[in-house]
Amino acid sequence: MKFQEIKKDIYYCGLNDPNRKFFDELIPLEHGTSYNSYLVKGSEKTAIIDTMYPPLTQEYLKNLEENGITKVDYIIENHGEQDHSGSIPALLEKFPEAIVITNDKVAENIKNMVEVPENKIRIITNNEELSLGNKTLQFIFAPGVHWPDTMFTYIKEDNVLCTCDFLGAHYVFDNVFATPSKELEHSAKRYYAEIMMPFRMMCKKYTQIVKDMNVDMILPSHGPIHKEPSFILDLYTKWTSDTPENLVVMPYVSMYKSTSSMIDYLAEKLETNGIKTFKYDIVNGDVGDLAMALVDASTIVFGASMVLAGPHPAAVNIAYLASILRPKAKYAALIGSYGWGGKLFDLIGQLLTPLKLEMLSEPLQVKGKPKAEDFAALDKLANTIIEKHKN
Ligand code: FEO
Repeated sequence: MKFQEIKKDIYYCGLNDPNRKFFDELIPLEHGTSYNSYLVKGSEKTAIIDTMYPPLTQEYLKNLEENGITKVDYIIENHGEQDHSGSIPALLEKFPEAIVITNDKVAENIKNMVEVPENKIRIITNNEELSLGNKTLQFIFAPGVHWPDTMFTYIKEDNVLCTCDFLGAHYVFDNVFATPSKELEHSAKRYYAEIMMPFRMMCKKYTQIVKDMNVDMILPSHGPIHKEPSFILDLYTKWTSDTPENLVVMPYVSMYKSTSSMIDYLAEKLETNGIKTFKYDIVNGDVGDLAMALVDASTIVFGASMVLAGPHPAAVNIAYLASILRPKAKYAALIGSYGWGGKLFDLIGQLLTPLKLEMLSEPLQVKGKPKAEDFAALDKLANTIIEKHKN
């Protein structure tokens, strides 16, 4: 595969992985993903920015060879996670003169995760510059976007910024340049929801920093390159804002349709009153869709049925997932049905505690099918949500 030139002497040398089904063994990938790697040829030195996911190492090395790359002086590592650092040992073997340039946190990670020898690493400090001759690389630390080790690499003369995972998407492509579209927006949002939303405040800060840099292009480590940076930066501005949308997300699991009938009833009341709802069938749904809905939600209504004497384990799993994704939602309610007894919501409530959600009612725990008084309680809950969403 011939490397595509991004700007003069800057090339894309990454790979698509269309067959990958999950990332982190957690969120399904609708379009596979790409692992981006960039080759920068200065007048004196050559650098590679980020490397490759370990299973694709041989293909990656073969491409470098086929493109006539015989010398690499620097391997710039923006982040230690293995999908970008996994091929460093193989690269060092192929280009023994190369050294890895990175920050102290990445250094610690790549020594432990991919066994890069300490004497092959040169540690740089925030904003330090490295000359390749007619091109200068500047390293900008961006801790917490999404790992503590993350940094960006700015190619000064070309005004392009390699943002590592930040501003990326799980998306494969033929042409490395992004075409702004609803499909790309969808993939970028799904990616943001899983990978970046837990660090929303840091993402918000760095969105502004990147905006202020006014770069010509954004070169992320997954998904296409943004020649029109405002496309992805405007989306991040919206997703990271403190203001949620007029949306109630309703994950539920229901064994005999009692819990789902409560969810349906409440959703209809809310929709009738102009509130968008997203009902999510925990057992049959795609958890990426739920994560995306949580990016915008103001309120989360959890619906759970009881298994034995506690909440359905699938609901527990989703409550835990919601708690670690850290959406900006402000309100919550818990509703569900049980058979012979037990505590339905103690565990779920406990798992949601880190989100500091305001509970809009006492948990509504119904024996068997909901009765008139239960529907009255749901009416009351709907009115409370409607009132809260007015603001
Ligand atoms: Fe794409 Fe955090 O690695």
